[in-house]
Amino acid sequence: NTQTEYFTIDDEIIENIFKPRDEFSHKGSYGKVTIIAGSYGKIGAAVLSTTSAMKTGSGLTFIHAPKCGYEILQTSCPEAMFTEGGSQFINNFEVDENSACGIGPGLGTEEETEKSFLTFLKNYSKPLVLDADALNSISKDKNHLKLIPKKSIITPHPKEFERLFGNTKNSFERVELARKNAKELGIYIVLKDHHTQVVTPEGNVFYNITGNSGLAKGGSGDILTGIITSLLSQHYSEENAAIFGVWLHGKAADFAAERHSKESMLPSDVVDELGNVFNKLN
Ligand code: APR
Ligand code: MG
Repeated sequence: NTQTEYFTIDDEIIENIFKPRDEFSHKGSYGKVTIIAGSYGKIGAAVLSTTSAMKTGSGLTFIHAPKCGYEILQTSCPEAMFTEGGSQFINNFEVDENSACGIGPGLGTEEETEKSFLTFLKNYSKPLVLDADALNSISKDKNHLKLIPKKSIITPHPKEFERLFGNTKNSFERVELARKNAKELGIYIVLKDHHTQVVTPEGNVFYNITGNSGLAKGGSGDILTGIITSLLSQHYSEENAAIFGVWLHGKAADFAAERHSKESMLPSDVVDELGNVFNKLN
């Protein structure tokens, strides 16, 4: 069956995906999450993706970042555990296999970072969340695409998508190219845009309608990476983590815009609104 199915992510879909917390649960019930992010001057990307992972409900959160981010991260996200992956930038990718892992925000494009990331990819087979500079490393050689573990979720913005898969004339063509690659590679592609699209390995397309132009600021994407990875750690399926993740991100942004305006809202305000979104769902 090659017929594509197009869906809008509506309240009914979200109500069916959302799993309220069980009162008799413990931190082990909500999994471990590891964020691999940051480099000198871009530790904020690691802060944003780590805090958003924590505020989405993970049981235990680890941040793997360069040493220059140690004090910043231990101060701004004290609940997360820090592991060191290099001095000014990451040159050593290590993940506990029992942890959901999101890689990319603010990694930078140092040769050592890219080489060690690709070596890590060759030896890793569980689904990952890949964003930003992780995707930029992959896009340097088309053969690297095959290294992405099956069922991984990649979250390119339009430019990153183009670097990975090539140019398209319009957003319609882009979705079709995403469908082709999602099927061939067996991965989920989250095409970030005004109306973000989640494209599944079956070739289905889910349109997100939450979110607003207040998100058009550096750091907004880093939050999405943290949210989706956190949902994976909490045993949402890859498909549900991607769909629920883009919806949560947009909904928190809509709350932030109400409170602060689209102009003044910051990505960190979006992280702060995640709690109000969950309160509405519960
Ligand atoms: N309407 C709705 N949503 C929007 C809009 C808009 N007008 N503009 C942006 N967004 C959302 C996107 O859907 C996406 O989820 O904000 C997020 C932006 O993500 P990115 O483009 O990845 O932006 P950013 O967080 O700045 O990325 C940080 O990583 O990808 C690299 O090159 C990028 O250096 C930058 C860094
Ligand atoms: Mg980004």
